[in-house]
Amino acid sequence: MEKQTAKEWKQLWLSYTKKKNVGNDPFLHTYRLEGFDRENRIVRSALEELKKGLSGMLGIDPSEESFAPEAGKEHINEQDKANSMQGILILRRLIPAGNNEEGYSLHEKEGNIILEAGGEKGLLYGVFHLLRLVSMEKSLKGICEAAGPDNPLRMVNHWDNMDGGIERGYSGNSFFFENNEIIVNERTRDYARLAASVGLNGVVINNVNVKQAATYLITDRYFEKVAQLAEIFADYGIRFYLSLNYAACMELGGLSTADPLAEEVQAWWKEKMKECFDRIPNLGGFLVKADSEGRPGPFTYGRTQADGANMLADAVKPYGGIIIWRCFVYNCTQDWRDYKTDRARAGYDNFIQMDGDYRENVILQIKNGPMDFQIREPISPLLGGLKKTNQMLEVQVAQEYTGHQIDVCYLIPMFKEVLDFHTYCKAGADTVADVISGRTLGNRNTGIAAVINTGNDANWTGNYLAGANFYGYGRLAFRTDLTAEEILDEWIPQTFGSDEKVLETLKKILLNSRTTYEKYTSPLGIGWMVNPGVHYGCSVDGYEYSRWGTYHRADHLGLGVDRSDKGTGYAQQYYEPNASMYNSMESCPEELLLFFHHVPYTYVLKSGKTLIQHIYDSHFEGYEEAESYAKAWDELEGLVDPEIFGNVKERFGRQLQNAREWRDQVNSYFYRKSGIPDEKGRTIY
Ligand code: GCU
Repeated sequence: MEKQTAKEWKQLWLSYTKKKNVGNDPFLHTYRLEGFDRENRIVRSALEELKKGLSGMLGIDPSEESFAPEAGKEHINEQDKANSMQGILILRRLIPAGNNEEGYSLHEKEGNIILEAGGEKGLLYGVFHLLRLVSMEKSLKGICEAAGPDNPLRMVNHWDNMDGGIERGYSGNSFFFENNEIIVNERTRDYARLAASVGLNGVVINNVNVKQAATYLITDRYFEKVAQLAEIFADYGIRFYLSLNYAACMELGGLSTADPLAEEVQAWWKEKMKECFDRIPNLGGFLVKADSEGRPGPFTYGRTQADGANMLADAVKPYGGIIIWRCFVYNCTQDWRDYKTDRARAGYDNFIQMDGDYRENVILQIKNGPMDFQIREPISPLLGGLKKTNQMLEVQVAQEYTGHQIDVCYLIPMFKEVLDFHTYCKAGADTVADVISGRTLGNRNTGIAAVINTGNDANWTGNYLAGANFYGYGRLAFRTDLTAEEILDEWIPQTFGSDEKVLETLKKILLNSRTTYEKYTSPLGIGWMVNPGVHYGCSVDGYEYSRWGTYHRADHLGLGVDRSDKGTGYAQQYYEPNASMYNSMESCPEELLLFFHHVPYTYVLKSGKTLIQHIYDSHFEGYEEAESYAKAWDELEGLVDPEIFGNVKERFGRQLQNAREWRDQVNSYFYRKSGIPDEKGRTIY
């Protein structure tokens, strides 16, 4: 434990390597603090970062102006004269801050660069933004920019287990836990810096499946170390959260029930929460997975999800805490013969009736799709479906179903689609972005969370290219208007430097990578077909006869799940016109056709191709695209750091093998089921 040294891991986009001088240095030798307390922990972090970044990138060691000049008596000594020639960086607190405590602006005025911020966090984000511009070799001259976060809560969810493993982790082990102990080291701080640099403000450190030792995170056994972790995050304006075991009152408290309406249960949690908030500084609240995939919850006692969430919410309320309650509640013991039960319906069915019953400090956390983070799913109808309840969007940056950080899959285009989706819940403010920012309902307890893709691998994310998803998620959580391409225009230069060929090649690969992955795996919204358990690699029938409710329903005539009003009725969970659009095979967006309909192999798509021909073409094309990326990457040898080059090359090798297997298995399977040959006569095994 605690054995890593700073040299053994990378700083990713905060590597602060030497940059070209694009004329920024005249502004950056001296800074002045106005209205900020330099002893404040977040201000201290901002100033440390400023120094670290500028000295690394420009060789400048910025110093604080030696005194604050009186009005009208500026530039009275030599040092000040020098400063006035150069200009200075003014870090100013805007009073009143209004509600934009986390916002900042950067502009040049009279030869100085002025960073104005509503509060300490805004200052920190502004400093990181300034460093980002320097790192991208952008000139600060004439700058005039302002930014504030779109989402109040911008969280990362770690699925880290206390034995050191990470559920759905593809970049090594946990850097928070090892052998049931908590790790606190320099890497924790670097992680907090990386997260804050992209504007994240909340972290849940442990897996939502809270078992064994993790149940004890809210006890004396761990309080001290948990507090140390929480303090580090506090330095970077990041609130600290834990996942809870709903049955802790039984497992830790020895009660015979976890019935949320039982007085002894309520009393136990009240006492426990008092202890937690006393012992853990910077604690924001808790994340709860209840009644889901075997985890305990209020259903056991005939109570509703609202009963469970509200009981905990009342217990954390005196401390300003929040309860983030997950909506991933479905029947995971289904029979494949049962065509009426539909896992996709479950989130909505389990939560919609209680809309309006949840406490103000409860937030429902809803996965982007109704199933489980497939490469393409419709948007969960619960998002915006709920009209009186705080909502938070959950996305998965960890590439569970999207290539395990072996296959390249830049997920930001997918997240953009989710955010831009019109739910039709309220005229003028109906996109998912509106709902989770609080614009739809005028609420503040809202936001976005991502199951994050980091681990203790030296490069944090296994595949270097997966770093774009961590970076991009944070930036998008802060500013949902950024495009997937704009985010790459930031991330690539900060990570790889300024070579044009590298920039262009990587943009092309990354921007198309999600569609490519979809093409060679499970196109048209069908999803799954993965190896059960691991969720990497192809197994067309892997989940077809099991209990998880994840069926493709292929037979000799066609494929897909009928979720129209003639099938499971899932399409009816949307507001109009979405409900009608999905309900009919003709108007359903084709990329989701098989999610909503059981379609004959001979059905003709808008492209003029039959469904079966589309399946063949898509898989051949997907493989070819992956092959072209691997070749394009090879051409970057010598232009990117050799270690990064080797890491990504090795991953492309494995991606090609995976894509080949998917192509051949899916094509053979559907050739044999349908009996219809590929009209182009390509090899189908
Ligand atoms: C998926 C994933 C699990 C995880 C679950 C969840 O089913 O495979 O590992 O626990 O999602 O989101 O709770």
